[in-house]
Amino acid sequence: MKKLQIINTSLEASLIGYGCMEIGGNWTNQPATVEAQKSALSIIETSLDEGINFFDHADIYCRGKSETVFSQIWARRPALRQKIILQSKCGIRFSNDPVQGYPARYDFSYEYIVESVEGILNRLQTDYLDLLLLHRPDPLVEPDEVAKAFENLHQSGKVRYFGVSNHTAAQIELLKKSLDQPLVVNQLEFNLLHLHLIDEGVIANQDNPTWPVRGNGTLEYCRLHDIAVQAWSPLAKGRASGNVPNQDLRSSNTALVVDRIAREKKVSQEAIVIAWILRHPAQIQPIIGTTNLNRIKAACEADLIELTREEWYELFSAGRGAKVP
Ligand SMILES: NC(=O)c1ccc[n+]([C@@H]2O[C@H](COP(=O)([O-])OP(=O)(O)OC[C@H]3O[C@@H](n4cnc5c(N)ncnc54)[C@H](OP(=O)(O)O)[C@@H]3O)[C@@H](O)[C@H]2O)c1
Repeated sequence: MKKLQIINTSLEASLIGYGCMEIGGNWTNQPATVEAQKSALSIIETSLDEGINFFDHADIYCRGKSETVFSQIWARRPALRQKIILQSKCGIRFSNDPVQGYPARYDFSYEYIVESVEGILNRLQTDYLDLLLLHRPDPLVEPDEVAKAFENLHQSGKVRYFGVSNHTAAQIELLKKSLDQPLVVNQLEFNLLHLHLIDEGVIANQDNPTWPVRGNGTLEYCRLHDIAVQAWSPLAKGRASGNVPNQDLRSSNTALVVDRIAREKKVSQEAIVIAWILRHPAQIQPIIGTTNLNRIKAACEADLIELTREEWYELFSAGRGAKVP
C-alpha cells in the first residue's frame, strides 16, 4: 500500500486507514466477548497484511472496548507499536456520565481532555498516541484550556501530534488563536453519497443549490493550511455499492455506476468507492470501518487503480443526484 506523509509531522501513513469503531463488538457496558476479541485480532491482522499502518480510535468506540481489544495485538506482535500510527479522539461524553441524569454532551475542558487521554493510553496499553483529535466541536470550547491540555500532553510525551474532527474552518481558526501545537488533521464525513465538502464549491454561485452551503470552504481551508483531511464513513456504509436493503434512488443509481466501472476495471465495488476519494487532489485519507475481512481486502484494491477525470465526474454526478451545472 502506498504511503502519504502527514504534513508537519514525521508520520508516514498508509493511503487507507482502518477505523476501529466497531471492533469491540457492541456498545453496551459489558466487557468484550471472546468472539469479539478473536474477531478484532483477525481484523487487525488482515489490515496489517493489506499494508495498513494507520489505526483510528476514539475513547467512546464500543464504550472503550475497541481500544481494549486492540491492545491484544501487542502480545502477538511485540515490535508492532513503533511501526504503526495510533490515533484516538476525545471530547464526547455519553449521557449519565458520571452522574445519572446528566445529558449527552461535548467536553473540551482541560481536565476532561487530560483524563480522557489517560483512559485511552490505559486501554490501548501504550505510552503514547501518535495523534489525538477533538471529536466533535464543543460550543462551550475555551481555546486556552485546550491549549493548556495539549501542552501538558505533548510535554509529558503522551501525545505527539494533535488534530480535530468534524470542525469547520472558522472553528479551527478559533482554536489556533490559542494553540502552540499545530493542528495537523481534520477528520470529516466524506463519501460518494455525502459529498458536501466538495459540492458546496460547485453550487456556491447557483440560485437553487441542491442543498444548503454549510461547510464554509473547510476542505479548501485545510489544503491551504496543510491540515490533512481524513474521510470517515468512506464506504458510505455499503450504500454506494448497493449492498444494503431499501436504498434510496440516489444511492441505487450511484451503486449502478460504481458496479459498471468496477466491472470495467475488474476490481471490487468497494475499490471504486474508495478510489473516488483517493482521486481528489487534497490527498484525503479514507478511514474504512468494515469488520468484514473480504471487504477490507476489497477496499484496499483501491490502492492499485486511478480513476480518470471522466469516471470521477460520472461518479460525482451520480452521488450528488444531478449532473454538474
Ligand atoms: N470522527 C467521527 O465523527 C467519526 C464518525 C463515524 C466514524 N468514524 C471513523 O470512521 C471509521 C469508518 O466509519 P464507518 O464504519 O461509519 O464507515 P464505512 O467504512 O463507510 O462503513 C462501514 C460499515 O458499513 C458496512 N458496510 C460497508 N460496506 C458494505 C457493503 N458493501 N455491504 C454491506 N455493508 C457494508 C459495514 O458492515 P460490515 O462490518 O459488516 O462490513 C460497517 O457497518 C470508523 O471506524 C471510525 O474510525 C469517525
